[in-house]
This record gives sequence, C-alpha cells and structure tokens, in this order.
Amino acid sequence: MDTIKDHDESRQGEALVLDTNSELKGKKLYIESYGCAMNFADSEVVASILAKDGFQTTANAEDADVILLNTCSIRENAENRIKKRLFDFKKQKQSNPELVVGILGCMASRMKQALLEDEKLVDIVAGPDSYRDLPHLIEDVGSGQRAVNVLLSREETYADITPVRLDKGGVCAFVSITRGCDNMCSFCVVPFTRGRERSRDPQTIIQECRDLFEAGYREVTLLGQNVDSYRWNMNSKGEIKDVEQTTMNFAELMENVAQVNPLLRVRFSTSHPKDMSDEFLQVMAKYENICPYIHLPVQSGSNDVLLRMNRGYTREWYLGRIAAIHKYLPTATISTDIITGFCGETEEDHQATLSLMEEVRFDFAYMYTYSERPKTLAERKYEDDIPEEVKSRRLTEIINLQRANALLSNEKQVGQIQEVLVESVSKKSADEFAGRNPFNARVVFPKKDSKPGDYVTVKINSCTSATLIGEII
Ligand code: SAH
Ligand code: SF4
Ligand code: F3S
Repeated sequence: MDTIKDHDESRQGEALVLDTNSELKGKKLYIESYGCAMNFADSEVVASILAKDGFQTTANAEDADVILLNTCSIRENAENRIKKRLFDFKKQKQSNPELVVGILGCMASRMKQALLEDEKLVDIVAGPDSYRDLPHLIEDVGSGQRAVNVLLSREETYADITPVRLDKGGVCAFVSITRGCDNMCSFCVVPFTRGRERSRDPQTIIQECRDLFEAGYREVTLLGQNVDSYRWNMNSKGEIKDVEQTTMNFAELMENVAQVNPLLRVRFSTSHPKDMSDEFLQVMAKYENICPYIHLPVQSGSNDVLLRMNRGYTREWYLGRIAAIHKYLPTATISTDIITGFCGETEEDHQATLSLMEEVRFDFAYMYTYSERPKTLAERKYEDDIPEEVKSRRLTEIINLQRANALLSNEKQVGQIQEVLVESVSKKSADEFAGRNPFNARVVFPKKDSKPGDYVTVKINSCTSATLIGEII
C-alpha cells in the first residue's frame, strides 16, 4: 500500500479531471497520480501550469495527446505498479505514434535518464521541481527530442501558482506548505527524490486558504513531509535571516490559517515526533476548527531500530509526545506509520513495537514491510537481512493488533453526537453521504436534506473498524 495521508488506497492511480471550459483549446491531458498527498497536490499544480498552455484534462487516457504519470518511489512495489502501467501506455503509443508519455514525481527524480533508455517507454522525465518547464519539455518532444529535467531546486515552492483542484466535491483541499525533506531517515528515498527542505511564503498559503473558503471549500490540509519544521525567514537554529521581514514557525502559521474562518476546518500532515512542539499543541487546543487529530509516525517501538533508522528520537521521547497530546488535547485521535522487518530487527524489537502499540492504542495506522531503496543510508550501511516470510508474519501480527485497536477506537464513539462535514455520496449507497468527524473518522449516514460542504450533527449508532454509521439529528 502506498500512502496518501487522509485518503484511502482507492485513490492510487486516480485520474485528475477538471471542469475547465476552454473550447478554444484542442490539446488533451491525462494525468494519473500515485503516492502521497504531496503528489496529488503537485498534480493540481501541473494541471494549472498546462492549462495556461492550452491543455484540458480528460478522464480517458485513450483521448489524450499527452499522458503524465505522477509517480512514487517510496517502496519497490510502488514503482513496479507504475512500470506495469507504462507498458499499457506503450501499447497505446504503438497505435498512436503522436502520443506523448511523461513521467513526473519521485521515480523521475530517482531513475532520471534510465527511464528514457529503458525500453523507450517514455518521452518526458520531469522531477518534482521542474514542472514549470513542462510546456517546453512537451514542445521538445514535438520537435522529435526526448526531454529530461530532473534538477532539484533549493527555492522552488510553486508559491505563486494556484492549483486547479482535483477534489470534485469542492469541499476538501490540500495546501502545500513545505517541499523536500532534510531528515535523512536511513530507510527513506524522499530526501533523494524531493531534495532539500524549503518552506513556502506564508502569505501565499494564507491567501490560498482564504480563496478556497470563498470558493466554498470547508477543509484544508496543510502538507509537508515534516510540517513541524516549517519556518519562514529563519534558519534551522531559529535565527532570523532578514530583520526587515516577518518570521513564522508552524505554530504561528497554523494560528493564521485557523483565523481565516471558524467554518474552515484545518488539518495537517505529517508531524514529526522529534519536532512537534508544545507551543503547536497549545495552538491546536485554542482553535475549535483545527481538527484534534495528529498523524505521528513512530516507525518502530525499539530504540535500537529507531537509532539505525536515524529517526532522531527514542521510544521514551515518542511516548512523552503522546502524553503531551493527551495533556493539551484530551479527546484527540492519533494515527501512525509503522515499518516492520527493518535491517537487523530482532524478535524482541518486534515485540517492542507491539507493546508500544498496546500502550498508545493508535486510532489508525499505515503499516508496511521494509523495502530497501537504492542510495539510502540503510542500503549503504545495513543488510536487508530479515527474510520476507518473517517480515510478512510480523506485519500480520501488527495489522491484527491495529485492527483491534481501531475497532476499540470506533466503538468508543458509538452513541456520541458529532459534527460531520459532508464530503460526498457514500460508495456503498446513493442514498447516503460520507464525511468525516473532527477526529478524522469516516462517517456514513442517510442524506436527509444535507449536501456536500454542509456541517451536520450526526448521532453515531454503530461501527466497523473502518467506518462509523449514524444518522443526522
Ligand atoms: N515524512 C513522513 C513519511 C513519508 S513516507 C514521516 O517522516 O513520517 C510515508 C511512510 O512510508 C513512512 O512513514 C514510512 O512508514 C513508510 N516508508 C518510507 N520508506 C519506506 C521503506 N523504505 N520501506 C517501507 N516503508 C517505508
Ligand atoms: Fe523520509 Fe524521514 Fe523525511 Fe519522512 S522525515 S520524508 S521518513 S526522511
Ligand atoms: Fe512517494 Fe515521493 Fe510521496 S516517494 S510517498 S510520492 S514524496
């Protein structure tokens, strides 16, 4: 499973389609996204850049003049899935030689030129910081070249580009606040594919949130690989760079976004245990529209493993952060990411992860077996020595425990009366809507006279481990 925080697996490979009314524009773009929320947000930036160049999006790959895949490299199976997809498009290219196929995102960064040479599957390779160059790259292909731009930037944040929104309901939107990552967790490919961390100008973030609210949106999720390290006009030691200009940390940014409108829900992803501050938790507690839900990836419950992972915290530190969340936000829900079978993980280490899960009782978790990634610290330094069958047995134990915890979390909410933001028609029944409560649990209920974008008061009558079921009262 690949990660899209706050989103389900069913969105992997989803096509982005817009309602742009551009009769004069002939060229059709099909864009498919994989990986994390940042990639989905980037696809909206790409669609915006290409809309200015005369491209209209289409839901059918068969209709397209240009096909773009926004890709993920986080685990080997994520890449394999995308390679398979490229062979589908190769067939289409055989019957339509004019068709341009491009690869964007993290695989483009990681594999670079090799993607062009490899079976001639693609015409364009564009890394996450080169999307402004896409119109030129497409033009180059038109004149018979194959085009690559995988340069990573220290500055690019696409701050001035208003993304065209892929959320068809027009209720929830992603807003990028940082790009890249400087953490160098030893298992992780992201610092290599996305480059150095940089923060986006806060005024453009706040303005984008205001515009979204005006356009009817009722929820924004601020996105970054480590939102807690957001900083504007400050270096990593907290020293001011330009005394003439404003400075801002993540807690202050959240406060500004929360003040856009009390009816705009604010979420964020991902928090990092080593950086999540009490100051930030206090801001969360102060604003009702900041949803009391924190995604705080732990990865492992063993200090030996955490050290080899280069995560920058211990089990005890992590539990201290959980205690701080409970102190400031007694009702908050907490989710996590766990990797099992990392290099050198003993049975004892695995038990430590299970015991941490018992202790914290996460409301939700994304769980993976370790997948070695080229160039990472772990690949260079440690042996990927846990046999696949041991990895998957440990994963099963982790998943079973988590399923029980998730059910407990949902059962606790049965009988409660909660405010739910209506998002869309439920997948199972056309007579029901689905939305989320402030704690990020999915709630389904009969529509009555509500519509997407409304806040409704729902009584929770029953649940599964994945969904709360209720009725509007
Ligand atoms: N920035 C976020 C995570 C981004 S990647 C953070 O620091 O928490 C999302 C998740 O993918 C990670 O939390 C981790 O659990 C998982 N992941 C990353 N690299 C992986 C690898 N090599 N093998 C298995 N899972 C991995
Ligand atoms: Fe990867 Fe670690 Fe950065 Fe998250 S914080 S993106 S896991 S290097
Ligand atoms: Fe994947 Fe890149 Fe996101 S590797 S998880 S798409 S940052």
